[in-house]
Amino acid sequence: MTIELLTAPLPRGSLIPSSYSDAEIEAESRRLQRVIKQPVKWNLSTCRAIAPLTLEINQLKRENDVFLIAHSYQTPDIIYGVADSVADSYALSKEARDAPQQTILFSSVRFMAETAKIVSPHKVVLHPSPEAGCSLSDGITARDVRDLKEAYPGVPVACYINTSAAVKAECDVCVTSSNYLSICERLPGERLIFVPDRFMGKHLQSALAGKKEVIVFDGECEVHAIFTGDKIRSWRKRTAELGMELMVLSHPECDADVLEESDFVGSSEVLINEALRLASEGKRDLMLITECGTADRVIAESDEELNLIGACVMCRHMKVTQLEDILQALREPRSEQVIEIESAVIERAGNCLDEMFRLAE
Ligand code: 13P
Ligand code: SF4
Repeated sequence: MTIELLTAPLPRGSLIPSSYSDAEIEAESRRLQRVIKQPVKWNLSTCRAIAPLTLEINQLKRENDVFLIAHSYQTPDIIYGVADSVADSYALSKEARDAPQQTILFSSVRFMAETAKIVSPHKVVLHPSPEAGCSLSDGITARDVRDLKEAYPGVPVACYINTSAAVKAECDVCVTSSNYLSICERLPGERLIFVPDRFMGKHLQSALAGKKEVIVFDGECEVHAIFTGDKIRSWRKRTAELGMELMVLSHPECDADVLEESDFVGSSEVLINEALRLASEGKRDLMLITECGTADRVIAESDEELNLIGACVMCRHMKVTQLEDILQALREPRSEQVIEIESAVIERAGNCLDEMFRLAE
Protein backbone atom coordinates (compact mmCIF):
# COMPACT_ATOMS: atom_id res chain seq x y z
CA MET A 1 0.00 0.00 0.00
CA THR A 2 1.11 3.55 -0.64
CA ILE A 3 0.15 6.95 0.64
CA GLU A 4 -1.49 8.89 -2.17
CA LEU A 5 0.78 10.13 -4.97
CA LEU A 6 0.91 13.85 -5.70
CA THR A 7 0.97 13.34 -9.45
CA ALA A 8 -1.65 11.73 -11.66
CA PRO A 9 -0.81 8.46 -13.45
CA LEU A 10 0.29 9.23 -17.02
CA PRO A 11 -0.16 6.73 -19.88
CA ARG A 12 2.66 4.17 -19.89
CA GLY A 13 2.89 4.38 -23.67
CA SER A 14 2.10 0.67 -24.14
CA LEU A 15 -0.57 1.35 -26.80
CA ILE A 16 -0.99 3.76 -29.66
CA PRO A 17 -4.52 5.19 -29.39
CA SER A 18 -6.54 6.01 -32.52
CA SER A 19 -5.98 9.51 -33.79
CA TYR A 20 -8.46 12.26 -33.03
CA SER A 21 -8.52 15.85 -34.23
CA ASP A 22 -6.91 18.59 -32.13
CA ALA A 23 -10.36 20.01 -31.48
CA GLU A 24 -11.69 16.68 -30.20
CA ILE A 25 -8.67 16.22 -27.92
CA GLU A 26 -8.91 19.76 -26.60
CA ALA A 27 -12.64 19.40 -25.84
CA GLU A 28 -12.12 16.02 -24.14
CA SER A 29 -9.15 17.33 -22.07
CA ARG A 30 -11.24 20.24 -20.83
CA ARG A 31 -14.16 17.91 -20.02
CA LEU A 32 -11.82 15.63 -18.02
CA GLN A 33 -10.32 18.52 -16.10
CA ARG A 34 -13.77 19.96 -15.34
CA VAL A 35 -15.26 16.69 -14.04
CA ILE A 36 -12.23 15.50 -12.04
CA LYS A 37 -12.01 18.90 -10.30
CA GLN A 38 -8.36 18.61 -9.20
CA PRO A 39 -6.74 21.14 -11.56
CA VAL A 40 -3.24 20.88 -10.07
CA LYS A 41 -2.87 17.09 -9.98
CA TRP A 42 -4.97 16.55 -13.10
CA ASN A 43 -3.71 19.57 -15.03
CA LEU A 44 -4.51 20.29 -18.65
CA SER A 45 -1.35 18.70 -20.00
CA THR A 46 -2.09 15.45 -18.10
CA CYS A 47 -5.67 15.53 -19.35
CA ARG A 48 -4.40 16.08 -22.93
CA ALA A 49 -2.19 12.99 -22.55
CA ILE A 50 -5.11 10.78 -21.51
CA ALA A 51 -7.81 12.29 -23.75
CA PRO A 52 -7.07 10.05 -26.80
CA LEU A 53 -7.47 7.01 -24.55
CA THR A 54 -10.80 8.09 -23.04
CA LEU A 55 -12.09 9.06 -26.49
CA GLU A 56 -11.29 5.64 -27.96
CA ILE A 57 -12.58 3.71 -24.93
CA ASN A 58 -15.91 5.59 -25.07
CA GLN A 59 -16.12 4.99 -28.81
CA LEU A 60 -15.47 1.23 -28.44
CA LYS A 61 -18.01 0.99 -25.63
CA ARG A 62 -20.68 2.55 -27.84
CA GLU A 63 -19.80 0.45 -30.90
CA ASN A 64 -19.74 -2.85 -28.96
CA ASP A 65 -22.51 -2.09 -26.43
CA VAL A 66 -20.24 -2.58 -23.40
CA PHE A 67 -21.28 -1.55 -19.88
CA LEU A 68 -18.19 -0.27 -18.07
CA ILE A 69 -18.46 -0.31 -14.31
CA ALA A 70 -15.79 0.89 -11.92
CA HIS A 71 -15.30 0.67 -8.19
CA SER A 72 -14.87 4.00 -6.36
CA TYR A 73 -11.20 3.20 -5.64
CA GLN A 74 -10.30 3.39 -9.33
CA THR A 75 -8.50 6.56 -10.43
CA PRO A 76 -10.56 9.65 -11.41
CA ASP A 77 -9.62 9.38 -15.12
CA ILE A 78 -11.39 5.99 -15.16
CA ILE A 79 -14.29 7.06 -12.94
CA TYR A 80 -15.07 10.35 -14.66
CA GLY A 81 -13.53 9.64 -18.04
CA VAL A 82 -15.00 6.30 -19.07
CA ALA A 83 -17.17 4.59 -16.42
CA ASP A 84 -20.92 4.20 -16.98
CA SER A 85 -21.47 3.50 -13.31
CA VAL A 86 -19.39 3.86 -10.15
CA ALA A 87 -20.39 2.54 -6.74
CA ASP A 88 -19.57 0.16 -3.87
CA SER A 89 -19.30 -3.59 -4.24
CA TYR A 90 -22.95 -4.29 -3.37
CA ALA A 91 -24.44 -1.82 -5.84
CA LEU A 92 -22.02 -2.84 -8.59
CA SER A 93 -22.83 -6.54 -8.25
CA LYS A 94 -26.52 -5.66 -8.65
CA GLU A 95 -25.79 -3.48 -11.65
CA ALA A 96 -23.75 -6.26 -13.26
CA ARG A 97 -26.69 -8.61 -12.71
CA ASP A 98 -29.32 -6.22 -14.08
CA ALA A 99 -27.48 -4.48 -16.95
CA PRO A 100 -29.08 -5.14 -20.34
CA GLN A 101 -25.69 -5.09 -22.10
CA GLN A 102 -24.22 -8.52 -22.78
CA THR A 103 -20.63 -7.40 -22.18
CA ILE A 104 -19.48 -5.93 -18.89
CA LEU A 105 -16.05 -4.48 -18.35
CA PHE A 106 -15.31 -4.31 -14.63
CA SER A 107 -12.55 -1.89 -13.73
CA SER A 108 -11.58 -3.06 -10.26
CA VAL A 109 -9.96 -6.00 -8.49
CA ARG A 110 -10.44 -9.65 -9.51
CA PHE A 111 -13.03 -10.76 -6.95
CA MET A 112 -15.44 -8.03 -8.07
CA ALA A 113 -15.17 -9.06 -11.72
CA GLU A 114 -15.68 -12.70 -10.68
CA THR A 115 -18.78 -11.65 -8.74
CA ALA A 116 -20.15 -9.98 -11.88
CA LYS A 117 -19.68 -13.24 -13.79
CA ILE A 118 -21.35 -15.29 -11.03
CA VAL A 119 -24.47 -13.07 -11.04
CA SER A 120 -24.63 -12.91 -14.84
CA PRO A 121 -23.03 -16.11 -16.17
CA HIS A 122 -24.37 -15.67 -19.70
CA LYS A 123 -22.62 -12.29 -20.11
CA VAL A 124 -19.03 -11.72 -21.19
CA VAL A 125 -17.19 -10.16 -18.25
CA LEU A 126 -13.92 -8.45 -19.04
CA HIS A 127 -11.36 -7.71 -16.34
CA PRO A 128 -8.50 -5.59 -17.67
CA SER A 129 -6.04 -6.41 -14.85
CA PRO A 130 -6.11 -10.12 -13.94
CA GLU A 131 -3.23 -9.55 -11.50
CA ALA A 132 -5.26 -7.06 -9.41
CA GLY A 133 -5.95 -9.03 -6.25
CA CYS A 134 -6.95 -8.08 -2.72
CA SER A 135 -5.30 -9.00 0.59
CA LEU A 136 -8.65 -10.26 1.89
CA SER A 137 -9.65 -12.44 -1.06
CA ASP A 138 -6.08 -13.71 -1.58
CA GLY A 139 -5.74 -14.62 2.10
CA ILE A 140 -8.33 -17.40 2.19
CA THR A 141 -8.96 -20.55 0.15
CA ALA A 142 -11.94 -22.86 -0.31
CA ARG A 143 -9.95 -25.46 1.72
CA ASP A 144 -9.81 -23.00 4.68
CA VAL A 145 -13.61 -22.70 4.61
CA ARG A 146 -14.08 -26.47 4.34
CA ASP A 147 -11.79 -26.91 7.38
CA LEU A 148 -13.89 -24.43 9.38
CA LYS A 149 -17.08 -26.23 8.36
CA GLU A 150 -15.60 -29.53 9.49
CA ALA A 151 -14.56 -27.99 12.82
CA TYR A 152 -18.02 -26.41 13.36
CA PRO A 153 -20.51 -28.70 11.61
CA GLY A 154 -23.91 -27.19 10.82
CA VAL A 155 -22.87 -23.62 11.66
CA PRO A 156 -23.89 -21.14 8.91
CA VAL A 157 -20.99 -19.53 7.05
CA ALA A 158 -21.14 -15.89 5.93
CA CYS A 159 -18.42 -14.58 3.65
CA TYR A 160 -17.50 -11.01 2.86
CA ILE A 161 -17.80 -10.28 -0.86
CA ASN A 162 -13.99 -9.80 -0.93
CA THR A 163 -13.50 -13.53 -1.61
CA SER A 164 -12.89 -15.69 -4.69
CA ALA A 165 -15.68 -17.54 -6.48
CA ALA A 166 -14.34 -20.83 -5.04
CA VAL A 167 -14.64 -19.49 -1.47
CA LYS A 168 -18.14 -18.12 -2.09
CA ALA A 169 -19.13 -21.56 -3.39
CA GLU A 170 -18.40 -22.98 0.09
CA CYS A 171 -20.47 -20.38 1.97
CA ASP A 172 -24.17 -19.97 2.79
CA VAL A 173 -24.47 -16.24 2.33
CA CYS A 174 -22.35 -13.40 1.04
CA VAL A 175 -22.31 -9.96 2.67
CA THR A 176 -20.80 -6.56 1.86
CA SER A 177 -19.72 -3.58 3.91
CA SER A 178 -23.20 -2.08 3.46
CA ASN A 179 -25.18 -5.03 4.82
CA TYR A 180 -22.98 -7.40 6.91
CA LEU A 181 -24.49 -6.40 10.25
CA SER A 182 -28.13 -6.67 9.19
CA ILE A 183 -27.69 -9.92 7.23
CA CYS A 184 -25.61 -11.71 9.89
CA GLU A 185 -28.14 -10.75 12.56
CA ARG A 186 -30.88 -12.45 10.55
CA LEU A 187 -29.09 -15.79 10.08
CA PRO A 188 -30.55 -18.76 11.99
CA GLY A 189 -28.85 -20.36 15.02
CA GLU A 190 -26.70 -19.22 17.89
CA ARG A 191 -23.40 -19.48 16.08
CA LEU A 192 -21.97 -18.06 12.89
CA ILE A 193 -18.71 -18.48 10.98
CA PHE A 194 -17.56 -15.22 9.38
CA VAL A 195 -14.74 -15.08 6.80
CA PRO A 196 -12.27 -13.61 5.98
CA ASP A 197 -12.08 -10.13 7.58
CA ARG A 198 -11.09 -10.32 11.25
CA PHE A 199 -11.97 -6.66 11.89
CA MET A 200 -15.50 -6.95 10.49
CA GLY A 201 -15.70 -10.23 12.42
CA LYS A 202 -14.79 -8.34 15.58
CA HIS A 203 -17.50 -5.71 14.88
CA LEU A 204 -19.97 -8.58 14.44
CA GLN A 205 -18.88 -10.15 17.73
CA SER A 206 -19.65 -6.88 19.54
CA ALA A 207 -22.89 -6.19 17.67
CA LEU A 208 -24.22 -9.72 18.21
CA ALA A 209 -22.89 -10.23 21.76
CA GLY A 210 -25.44 -12.18 23.82
CA LYS A 211 -27.31 -13.26 20.68
CA LYS A 212 -24.75 -15.18 18.63
CA GLU A 213 -21.24 -16.50 18.92
CA VAL A 214 -19.20 -15.41 15.89
CA ILE A 215 -16.26 -17.58 14.81
CA VAL A 216 -13.88 -15.38 12.84
CA PHE A 217 -11.18 -16.04 10.24
CA ASP A 218 -7.89 -14.13 10.44
CA GLY A 219 -7.77 -12.04 7.23
CA GLU A 220 -7.46 -8.28 6.93
CA CYS A 221 -7.47 -5.50 4.38
CA GLU A 222 -3.89 -4.27 4.11
CA VAL A 223 -5.14 -0.73 3.45
CA HIS A 224 -7.69 -0.26 6.23
CA ALA A 225 -5.53 -2.13 8.77
CA ILE A 226 -3.09 0.81 8.69
CA PHE A 227 -5.42 3.30 10.38
CA THR A 228 -5.41 3.55 14.19
CA GLY A 229 -7.63 5.12 16.83
CA ASP A 230 -4.55 6.98 18.17
CA LYS A 231 -4.06 8.78 14.85
CA ILE A 232 -7.68 9.95 14.88
CA ARG A 233 -7.46 11.09 18.50
CA SER A 234 -4.35 13.11 17.75
CA TRP A 235 -5.93 14.73 14.66
CA ARG A 236 -9.07 15.54 16.64
CA LYS A 237 -6.97 17.24 19.31
CA ARG A 238 -4.94 19.25 16.80
CA THR A 239 -7.97 20.35 14.79
CA ALA A 240 -9.97 21.22 17.94
CA GLU A 241 -7.09 23.50 19.02
CA LEU A 242 -7.56 25.30 15.70
CA GLY A 243 -11.29 25.66 16.37
CA MET A 244 -12.39 23.03 13.81
CA GLU A 245 -15.13 20.51 14.36
CA LEU A 246 -13.69 17.44 12.65
CA MET A 247 -16.10 14.82 11.29
CA VAL A 248 -14.47 11.38 11.00
CA LEU A 249 -15.90 8.89 8.51
CA SER A 250 -14.54 5.33 8.41
CA HIS A 251 -14.90 2.12 6.45
CA PRO A 252 -15.86 -1.01 8.47
CA GLU A 253 -12.71 -2.84 7.30
CA CYS A 254 -10.90 -0.76 9.96
CA ASP A 255 -10.17 -2.00 13.48
CA ALA A 256 -12.67 -1.49 16.32
CA ASP A 257 -10.73 1.36 17.98
CA VAL A 258 -10.93 3.31 14.69
CA LEU A 259 -14.68 2.81 14.45
CA GLU A 260 -15.12 3.85 18.09
CA GLU A 261 -13.40 7.16 17.33
CA SER A 262 -15.49 7.74 14.20
CA ASP A 263 -18.63 9.82 13.78
CA PHE A 264 -19.88 7.66 10.93
CA VAL A 265 -19.11 4.18 9.53
CA GLY A 266 -20.17 2.90 6.12
CA SER A 267 -19.34 1.30 2.79
CA SER A 268 -17.37 3.31 0.23
CA GLU A 269 -20.56 4.65 -1.38
CA VAL A 270 -22.31 5.36 1.92
CA LEU A 271 -19.22 7.27 3.15
CA ILE A 272 -19.20 9.41 0.00
CA ASN A 273 -22.91 10.23 0.35
CA GLU A 274 -22.48 11.14 4.01
CA ALA A 275 -19.45 13.33 3.26
CA LEU A 276 -21.44 15.14 0.54
CA ARG A 277 -24.38 15.58 2.92
CA LEU A 278 -22.17 16.96 5.70
CA ALA A 279 -20.45 19.33 3.27
CA SER A 280 -23.80 20.63 2.01
CA GLU A 281 -24.69 21.42 5.63
CA GLY A 282 -21.50 23.44 6.01
CA LYS A 283 -19.50 20.74 7.85
CA ARG A 284 -16.44 20.84 5.65
CA ASP A 285 -13.65 19.62 7.96
CA LEU A 286 -13.75 15.95 7.09
CA MET A 287 -11.44 13.03 7.76
CA LEU A 288 -11.96 10.03 5.47
CA ILE A 289 -10.49 6.89 7.05
CA THR A 290 -10.34 4.77 3.94
CA GLU A 291 -8.80 4.34 0.49
CA CYS A 292 -7.85 7.53 -1.40
CA GLY A 293 -10.42 7.05 -4.17
CA THR A 294 -13.15 8.04 -1.71
CA ALA A 295 -11.63 11.51 -1.29
CA ASP A 296 -11.21 11.86 -5.07
CA ARG A 297 -14.93 11.22 -5.50
CA VAL A 298 -15.98 13.56 -2.70
CA ILE A 299 -13.86 16.34 -4.23
CA ALA A 300 -15.32 15.75 -7.70
CA GLU A 301 -18.93 15.48 -6.55
CA SER A 302 -19.14 18.19 -3.92
CA ASP A 303 -20.21 21.74 -4.73
CA GLU A 304 -18.47 22.97 -1.58
CA GLU A 305 -14.88 23.90 -0.83
CA LEU A 306 -13.74 21.01 1.41
CA ASN A 307 -11.06 20.70 4.03
CA LEU A 308 -10.00 17.04 3.92
CA ILE A 309 -7.79 16.33 6.92
CA GLY A 310 -5.20 13.56 7.33
CA ALA A 311 -3.74 11.17 4.77
CA CYS A 312 -5.64 8.52 2.90
CA VAL A 313 -4.03 5.19 1.95
CA MET A 314 -3.91 3.91 -1.60
CA CYS A 315 -4.78 0.30 -2.49
CA ARG A 316 -2.00 -0.95 -4.79
CA HIS A 317 -4.36 -3.61 -6.19
CA MET A 318 -7.13 -1.18 -7.08
CA LYS A 319 -4.65 1.22 -8.63
CA VAL A 320 -3.07 -1.37 -10.96
CA THR A 321 -5.63 -0.68 -13.69
CA GLN A 322 -4.92 2.17 -16.06
CA LEU A 323 -6.84 3.48 -19.05
CA GLU A 324 -4.47 1.62 -21.36
CA ASP A 325 -5.41 -1.72 -19.78
CA ILE A 326 -9.09 -0.94 -20.35
CA LEU A 327 -8.48 0.07 -23.95
CA GLN A 328 -6.42 -3.06 -24.63
CA ALA A 329 -9.10 -5.31 -23.07
CA LEU A 330 -11.79 -3.64 -25.20
CA ARG A 331 -9.79 -3.88 -28.41
CA GLU A 332 -8.66 -7.48 -28.13
CA PRO A 333 -8.94 -9.09 -24.69
CA ARG A 334 -6.34 -11.64 -23.72
CA SER A 335 -7.81 -14.93 -22.51
CA GLU A 336 -6.97 -14.14 -18.86
CA GLN A 337 -8.91 -10.87 -19.17
CA VAL A 338 -12.14 -12.75 -19.89
CA ILE A 339 -13.57 -14.14 -16.66
CA GLU A 340 -14.22 -17.88 -16.86
CA ILE A 341 -15.48 -19.86 -13.87
CA GLU A 342 -16.45 -23.54 -13.74
CA SER A 343 -20.22 -23.92 -14.00
CA ALA A 344 -20.49 -25.93 -10.75
CA VAL A 345 -18.67 -23.16 -8.89
CA ILE A 346 -20.87 -20.50 -10.52
CA GLU A 347 -23.98 -22.34 -9.39
CA ARG A 348 -22.91 -22.71 -5.75
CA ALA A 349 -21.37 -19.22 -5.49
CA GLY A 350 -24.52 -17.88 -7.18
CA ASN A 351 -26.67 -19.36 -4.39
CA CYS A 352 -24.47 -17.58 -1.84
CA LEU A 353 -24.94 -14.23 -3.64
CA ASP A 354 -28.66 -14.79 -4.27
CA GLU A 355 -29.09 -15.33 -0.55
CA MET A 356 -27.44 -11.96 0.04
CA PHE A 357 -29.78 -10.22 -2.44
CA ARG A 358 -32.78 -11.93 -0.83
CA LEU A 359 -31.81 -10.87 2.70
CA ALA A 360 -30.66 -7.37 1.70
CA GLU A 361 -33.58 -6.33 -0.50
P1 13P B 1 -17.15 -1.41 -0.56
O1 13P B 1 -18.18 -2.45 -0.74
O2 13P B 1 -17.40 -0.52 0.61
O3 13P B 1 -16.95 -0.65 -1.81
O4 13P B 1 -15.78 -2.13 -0.16
C1 13P B 1 -15.02 -2.88 -1.03
C2 13P B 1 -13.61 -2.83 -0.67
O5 13P B 1 -12.79 -3.57 -1.17
C3 13P B 1 -13.22 -1.85 0.31
O6 13P B 1 -11.88 -1.96 0.60
FE1 SF4 C 1 -8.85 -5.46 -0.85
FE2 SF4 C 1 -8.35 -3.59 0.93
FE3 SF4 C 1 -7.78 -3.15 -1.59
FE4 SF4 C 1 -10.35 -3.22 -0.78
S1 SF4 C 1 -8.80 -1.73 -0.21
S2 SF4 C 1 -9.49 -4.21 -2.59
S3 SF4 C 1 -10.21 -4.80 0.78
S4 SF4 C 1 -6.85 -4.70 -0.27
